[in-house]
Amino acid sequence: MTYALHGRVALVTGAGGGIGRAIAQRLAREGMAVAVLDRDGAAAQTVAAEVRGVAVTADVTSPTEMGGAVDTVLARLGRIDVLVNNAGIAWMGPALDMPLEALQAMLRVNVEGVFIASRAVLPHMIARRSGSIVNLASWAGKTGNAYFAGYSASKFAVIGLTQALARETAPHGIRVNAICPGIVVDTQMRTAIEAQQRHYGLPETSEREKSIPIGRVSVPDDVARIAAFLASDEASYMTGEAINISGGLLMD
Ligand SMILES: NC(=O)c1ccc[n+]([C@@H]2O[C@H](COP(=O)([O-])OP(=O)(O)OC[C@H]3O[C@@H](n4cnc5c(N)ncnc54)[C@H](O)[C@@H]3O)[C@@H](O)[C@H]2O)c1
Repeated sequence: MTYALHGRVALVTGAGGGIGRAIAQRLAREGMAVAVLDRDGAAAQTVAAEVRGVAVTADVTSPTEMGGAVDTVLARLGRIDVLVNNAGIAWMGPALDMPLEALQAMLRVNVEGVFIASRAVLPHMIARRSGSIVNLASWAGKTGNAYFAGYSASKFAVIGLTQALARETAPHGIRVNAICPGIVVDTQMRTAIEAQQRHYGLPETSEREKSIPIGRVSVPDDVARIAAFLASDEASYMTGEAINISGGLLMD
């Protein structure tokens, strides 16, 4: 164990696979009780069994479902110290080909979802005068990448939301930070992006890897380690940050 997280409780959204699953596993290894939330109930059950946590089936875009999810977690685990807003979706391809529905879906899940989940958990954190919220943004949330117009727009919004909530909740003892991963493989999102890259004849991951100073793409646990740090008191003086974990792809 690296951080003093033992005995605390985390709610991780989109934890049924990919980066969310790695975060749930990492936080569980740190001794936390983890609520594994996903709209895919079977995936949530599988990961919850892996981490001996609690599975919660909910869609982050539904205030009703998220309200029920938070009630369930509080009833089962007693408190929520950490919320990881990881659930997200991506559509990549030329902006002129992007269906308006794809843009709307990204804004709904990636932005409204973060807002809805945070608002469901915050009253509890405010009452306890303690909490850490970690939002999954992206390096595409700091620089507009070609073929990621809608996704970039949504992730810029996540960073804005992170900063606004950080300022607003700091007086209540709550920290809100974001993580900006670069290229993370071994996730369903990356597999879908690669299919789109092939479809449009765009540079593939192996090609893009050459532009990463550290010389490799990342895996979900690279991101999970940063999530654990931000969740912990080791980051007690950090709020409103958007931390790059991109192998040097983005430096700012
Ligand atoms: N993979 C990458 O290269 C990369 C890079 C930067 C940022 N990110 C961000 O990291 C996060 C996780 O990405 P990933 O690659 O693990 O994705 P993924 O598609 O592999 O996993 C996302 C999970 O979220 C769940 N989910 C999606 N919409 C949901 C909703 N409305 N309600 C509840 N659950 C929902 C899915 O069922 C899935 O289990 C996302 O926010 C993504 O934008 C990923």
